[in-house]
Amino acid sequence: MSHDGSGHRPLLSRRSLLRRAAALGSGALAAKIPAWAQQPGGPALELLWLTMRAESGVASIRPGPSTAVWQYVAHRKGRSTFERANYIGPILRVGKGAYVDVDFTNALAEPTTVHWHGLDVPPAMDGHPIDMVEAGGRFRYGFRVLNRAGTYWFHPHPDMRTGPQVYQGLSGVVIVSDPEEQALGLPRGGRDKLFVVQDRFLDAANQFVYAPVGMSGLFGDQVLVNGHLGTVQAVQTAAYRLRFLNGCNGRILKLAWSDGSPVTIIGSEAGLLRSPESKPYVVLVPGERVEIWADFRGRKVGETITLRSLSFYPGMNGGGALPNGAPFDVMRFYVESAVADKSTLPGTLSNIPQYLLKQAANILDPRVIPLSKSATEWKLNGASFQMTGVAPNEITRLGALEVWEFQNDAGGQMMAHPMHLHGSPFQIAERTVSPAYQAQYDSVKDGLVDSGWKDTFLIMPGERVKILTKPLHHAGRFLYHCHNLEHEDMGMMRNYDVLA
Ligand code: C2O
Ligand code: CU
Ligand code: CU
Repeated sequence: MSHDGSGHRPLLSRRSLLRRAAALGSGALAAKIPAWAQQPGGPALELLWLTMRAESGVASIRPGPSTAVWQYVAHRKGRSTFERANYIGPILRVGKGAYVDVDFTNALAEPTTVHWHGLDVPPAMDGHPIDMVEAGGRFRYGFRVLNRAGTYWFHPHPDMRTGPQVYQGLSGVVIVSDPEEQALGLPRGGRDKLFVVQDRFLDAANQFVYAPVGMSGLFGDQVLVNGHLGTVQAVQTAAYRLRFLNGCNGRILKLAWSDGSPVTIIGSEAGLLRSPESKPYVVLVPGERVEIWADFRGRKVGETITLRSLSFYPGMNGGGALPNGAPFDVMRFYVESAVADKSTLPGTLSNIPQYLLKQAANILDPRVIPLSKSATEWKLNGASFQMTGVAPNEITRLGALEVWEFQNDAGGQMMAHPMHLHGSPFQIAERTVSPAYQAQYDSVKDGLVDSGWKDTFLIMPGERVKILTKPLHHAGRFLYHCHNLEHEDMGMMRNYDVLA
């Protein structure tokens, strides 16, 4: 089987495959870029061509038996493998403008798709559940990296099975760089670190136990960073760029330093902020990323600093040994050696145009998207997911700046939700919270990073959030959904159409 049958993209002819091979063989940056890589925005100067399989394997997570996982295993022509973080990977590094070509094989026993979270890719390459890659099937994902420098990721997106597949281990990361970011001289190499935080239940035989609770979701009692328990990162007395991805199915993080030092935030999902922001803690919902400037220069060799997740009130919390909102230690940083480091934190990081509410085409009649639930399903916009369903208020236009208001105030059992839109990044315009829920809101509000480009955001119980969104590059069908993956699987996902 060589094609998924969805008809979106014809298989390449043998000749174009040979052309690709030739282009790749001529060096890391192929001198001749074939026509297929000529995407909007001029020719791709960089080509990342890989084969990737979703397959079962084993990982070493704690002493004793190894853990059965599902993982992406990738290879690049001419080079063996990619960097990974235990079962998480590959970690792909590309420049903005690169063409990424993934020859994907589904070696699992069930259908899957690969979704490029945060990357603005054509709808047919976005891993929509309708574009299922059957067990044993193959699909060629190809897209131009149109996003700015930032930390993006990818994971399965099949209908009603996203939660279990991600939980079993399937996810990878795409780190994009661009000239604006490179010119800043931020810490790089060994001082630019990625940490993927996930929670799991592990049984006595060290196996993952998938145990979501009712309508709340999955809140495991073990915290893994880059696929390991009890992570300790050795550092030098230097400044670091720390990238965090919340890869949990449902758990919200409220990250803070154990000694009360402020958290210096330099980036969010879609790259750097305008300028660094200092906060007592930073809230990171499932799917979100944050970049932190961590300066260990004032520390003594031998010192340990813990990164904790502080308590907060999420509404429904899943109960169990470690409910959502309960405090725990995430990882530790151990100062191993002293070095001289002259790096400075730039006062200005990036030039981000500001979307304004008054510029929205629909400012007089904002799209209103309520969040709600029945006894067995979560809903968005009054309905649960329909594979091909699009409501009249779920149709927008390429290039139109619009305000969408998400409303999480239906009453009854409410909880915090991580909302996510596929397609172009957006901005947060306004938050309002009903007075009855002010105390819950106050438990997170000082850690919200709403100033940069977003693809996922927290909406608290009793809250309404207005976002400003503009589809920049691609017409077609996209998804928006709750990134609590069990909520997504329980229907809290809808299509939206972008008309050309
Ligand atoms: Cu990271 Cu549609 O999801
Ligand atoms: Cu996504
Ligand atoms: Cu949700």
